Amino acid sequence: MRGVPTLVLRTFAAPVELRTPRVLLRQWKDSDSDAWAAMNADPEVRRYFPTVLSRTEAQAEADRIRGAIAQRGWGMWALEIPGVHPFAGFVGLSVPGYEAPWMPAVEIGWRLAPAAWHRGYATEGATAALAFAFTHLELPQVVALSVPTNTPSHNVMHRIGMARDAAADFDHPRVPADSPLKRHILHRIAPEQWRRHCDK
Ligand SMILES: CC(C)(COP(=O)(O)OP(=O)(O)OC[C@H]1O[C@@H](n2cnc3c(N)ncnc32)[C@H](O)[C@@H]1OP(=O)(O)O)[C@@H](O)C(=O)NCCC(=O)NCCS
Repeated sequence: MRGVPTLVLRTFAAPVELRTPRVLLRQWKDSDSDAWAAMNADPEVRRYFPTVLSRTEAQAEADRIRGAIAQRGWGMWALEIPGVHPFAGFVGLSVPGYEAPWMPAVEIGWRLAPAAWHRGYATEGATAALAFAFTHLELPQVVALSVPTNTPSHNVMHRIGMARDAAADFDHPRVPADSPLKRHILHRIAPEQWRRHCDK
C-alpha cells in the first residue's frame, strides 16, 4: 500500500543559535522590526517577489517566522553580523505550508538587506544552516526555490553544494497565475552530496 510520505521534524526546547566566524543566526527580536520593514519596502530586495511588503505585511511575516522558531527551535533565523549589522535579514530553514510536487521537504532560504550584500554573509549563514539540517535534524534532503532569473540566489545555492533538479520546475501556488514570477525552479541537496561538498 502506498502511504503519504512524511517528514520527521526534530524540535528543540529553546531557540537554537548558530555562530560562524562572522555571522550569528538567532531568534528574532522586536528591535529587528524597523530594518525588516525597510528592506521589504525596497524594490531591489523584492525584485524576484511579486510585490514589496507594507509594514503590516512585513511584521506579519516576521511574526510567523519567529513563531516557527519558538515552536521548533530552528527556522528562518535572523541574521546578525556582530559589530557590523545588528540585523541584516534572514537565513535559514522553513517548512513550506502549501502543496507542491516536491513536498514534503524542508526549504533553505535567505533575504538580506542590500547593505549586507556582496560580503559572503548569505553563503556563510547558509553553510551553517545546511550543516544544522543534516547533522542535527538529519533530514533526507533540503530544497531551495527560486525564480529562474534570480542569479544571486542561485550562486548561493551552488556555493553551498546544491544542484538544480531540472525535472522539478513548478508553478508556485502562492504566486498569482498571471505573474511572470509564477514559474519556479528547484535546487536540492542530499546528505551524501553535502558531505562530498564539505570534503572538497
Ligand atoms: C540572494 C542574496 C542573499 C545573495 O546575496 P549575495 O551578497 O550575492 O551573496 P553572499 O552574501 O553569499 O555574498 C557573495 C558575494 O560576496 C563576495 N565576498 C566578499 N567578501 C567575501 C568574503 N569574505 N567571503 C565570501 N565572499 C565574499 C563574493 O565574492 C560574492 O561576490 P558577488 O556578489 O560579486 O558574486 C541577496 O541578493 C538578496 O538578499 N536578495 C534579495 C532577496 C532574495 O532574492 N532572496 C532569495 C529568494 S530565492
